[in-house]
Amino acid sequence: MADYKITLPSWQGLSIRYSSDLHSNLLEALEEALEQERMQIEYQCRQGYCGSCRVRLVKGKVGYPCKPLAFVNEGEILPCSCHPLTDIEIKL
Ligand code: FES
Repeated sequence: MADYKITLPSWQGLSIRYSSDLHSNLLEALEEALEQERMQIEYQCRQGYCGSCRVRLVKGKVGYPCKPLAFVNEGEILPCSCHPLTDIEIKL
C-alpha cells in the first residue's frame, strides 16, 4: 500500500490523498477529490493516447506502469496513466 499527498496550490491550496488501495491512477484520485469540491479535470481516453489530461508536475515524482503514447513536454505528466511515487505538487 502506498499513500501520498497531492497538493494543488493553484486550486486554493487544495490537498488530497492518493492511495494505491483505492486508486489505480492519479486521475482517479483527482476526480474523487475535485468532485467533492464541484470542480472537474479534463480527460478523454483515460489510456495515455490523447494527452487531454496533461498537467504540470511542480514537485515530486510519478511512475508509469506502461509508457503512454501521448506527447508531454518536460515537466508535464498524464494523470490517467501514472501514479505518485512521492508526495507531489501539481498545477492543473
Ligand atoms: S485522458 Fe487521454 S492521455 Fe489521459
